[in-house]
Amino acid sequence: MRAIAIIKSEHKNLGAVLYSLEKLIEEIDKGKHPDFTIFHGLLTYLDRFLDRYHHPKENLYLFPKLLERAPDTEALVRELGQQHTEGELLFIEMLKALSAYEFSGAAEFPHFRETVLKYTEFERNHAHKEEKEILPRAKKALQASDWEEIDAAFGENRDPMFGQDWNDEFSELFDSIVNRLPAPLGLGDDWK
Ligand SMILES: [Fe+2]
Ligand SMILES: [Fe+2]
Repeated sequence: MRAIAIIKSEHKNLGAVLYSLEKLIEEIDKGKHPDFTIFHGLLTYLDRFLDRYHHPKENLYLFPKLLERAPDTEALVRELGQQHTEGELLFIEMLKALSAYEFSGAAEFPHFRETVLKYTEFERNHAHKEEKEILPRAKKALQASDWEEIDAAFGENRDPMFGQDWNDEFSELFDSIVNRLPAPLGLGDDWK
């Protein structure tokens, strides 16, 4: 059941990134100049990690096994699987809005703001639903041999920003995020 701890810690990292996005929007609301490098870094992280690693592993390993052992979870599993696709669409909308904002300036900020807040709320609710409804069902229904396969798949995940051994590419972004976030997520005190 190592996968459960891995999923929860990946959700926690996701939560820190979503929170960062919201705080950056809040800063711009207060008149600060946008830092597009940080926005691009955060969106690249979300694309690399969430959409290419985290969600596919839920889709390929956790969800099918849960469906096999607990067929009554079908509607729930289908709903969460669809949310992965919806989340990707919201992500693309946010990315396009960021591009428009960077190219055209302040007039595009309200639209970008709207897409970010829609995305962060959606992904936060999604992770919450998995933790409240999927993980407890999986804990009960799955057998030891099922977990071996799922644990192996999730154990292969290398978080490019929060992982211990794969930090190079995202280390600067990680530092800038951690320095900005209030405790206990980060070291900064700007938003305390
Ligand atoms: Fe998910
Ligand atoms: Fe998840």
